[in-house]
Amino acid sequence: MSTDNIFARRSVRKFIDKKVEASHMKTLLEAGMAAPSGRNLKPWHFVAITERKTLDLLAEAHPYGKMLFEATAAILVCGDIAVSPDYWIQDCSAATENILVAAAGSGLGSVWLGCHPREDRVAAIKNILGIPDEIGILSLIAIGHPGEKKEPRTQYEEKRVHRGKW
Ligand SMILES: Cc1cc2nc3c(=O)[nH]c(=O)nc-3n(C[C@H](O)[C@H](O)[C@H](O)COP(=O)(O)O)c2cc1C
Repeated sequence: MSTDNIFARRSVRKFIDKKVEASHMKTLLEAGMAAPSGRNLKPWHFVAITERKTLDLLAEAHPYGKMLFEATAAILVCGDIAVSPDYWIQDCSAATENILVAAAGSGLGSVWLGCHPREDRVAAIKNILGIPDEIGILSLIAIGHPGEKKEPRTQYEEKRVHRGKW
């Protein structure tokens, strides 16, 4: 069993000026779509962004997403709420984590930027990208070649484990 990429996944918020290859973007999107989903409904859609102007607009729109000014790519993880009203958030969260872990495994840096349920962010990002009203947006992932090094770690705490019963 290899958990290396899981422990190596850290939030990277500094990037160097180097494009993310199209083949890497494809791998990240495949990783997103490999996530588990409730009733296997797969309500997700992904917006893959590499245009500098769009990344800059997103950086302006997201209050905690200013690293998008440096990132050379981003993926918006969206869910069709009507397809899975009960589980679109969980499914899109699983897809988001898969993309982050795949990015770490590809030598890329990435960070999860929360969107849902912050209505102001959701509205601003939907407006920039032309997302239909009925689509939810769970996360925006800033991606690029890392400009900072973060150490792998587990965050394991024995006191959080309740063995057999609480
Ligand atoms: C739901 C969610 C929303 C987040 N939103 C942001 C964000 O808007 N901006 C940001 O820089 N980091 C964001 N993060 C990243 C967390 O700050 C980060 O995961 C946490 O500090 C732990 O650090 P690590 O990712 O390096 O393990 C978010 C993470 C999650 C799971």
